[in-house]
Amino acid sequence: MKSVAMPFELRQATSGDAEAIAELYCASFRLLTFLPMLHTIEGYRRYVAGVMLKECAVTVVEDDAGIISFLALQGEEVRQLYTRPDRIGRGAGTQLIEAAKSSGVAALELWCFQANTRARRFYEARGFRAIRFTDGALNEERTPDVRYRWERD
Ligand SMILES: CC(C)(COP(=O)(O)OP(=O)(O)OC[C@H]1O[C@@H](n2cnc3c(N)ncnc32)[C@H](O)[C@@H]1OP(=O)(O)O)[C@@H](O)C(=O)NCCC(=O)NCCS
Repeated sequence: MKSVAMPFELRQATSGDAEAIAELYCASFRLLTFLPMLHTIEGYRRYVAGVMLKECAVTVVEDDAGIISFLALQGEEVRQLYTRPDRIGRGAGTQLIEAAKSSGVAALELWCFQANTRARRFYEARGFRAIRFTDGALNEERTPDVRYRWERD
């Protein structure tokens, strides 16, 4: 059964959101059970506050429970897109991708693990096409990934 859409709002993240984003990121990443868990929650906190929020334009989706999804965009690169596990399938990810497409970019690209079939279906249904497959030798998890690209018509 499809979940009922809940009202939520998009806004730009601030440094004060680092903790909430790190917790969400860590919890959502743990859904990818085919991956090794290389980082502790402390590592997520350091990355979000020290790298992601400094290098990327981060948009968050909020509902009455707080931040439920975020997208980190660096130029045309979607570096991260994660939804809180209990809010997956309610439209937050779609709204974030639509907002990224509307941000003035001519194209968007991202890496996705090949085994992440749900995310792959999500991107492919939203106009992204696979342009490159790797054996994972260059990513941290040493897990095969796929490069996706969306271009404005
Ligand atoms: C991929 C992801 C970011 C999508 O975000 P989201 O907020 O769930 O996105 P939406 O709700 O807009 O759309 C989810 C899709 O899954 C479907 N869906 C519905 N209920 C669902 C459920 N309970 N579980 C999973 N998917 C569901 C939706 O119908 C939609 O598919 P559609 O193409 O038919 O519309 C989210 O699934 C996620 O965080 N996954 C774990 C982390 C991850 O894989 N991140 C991407 C790394 S590249």
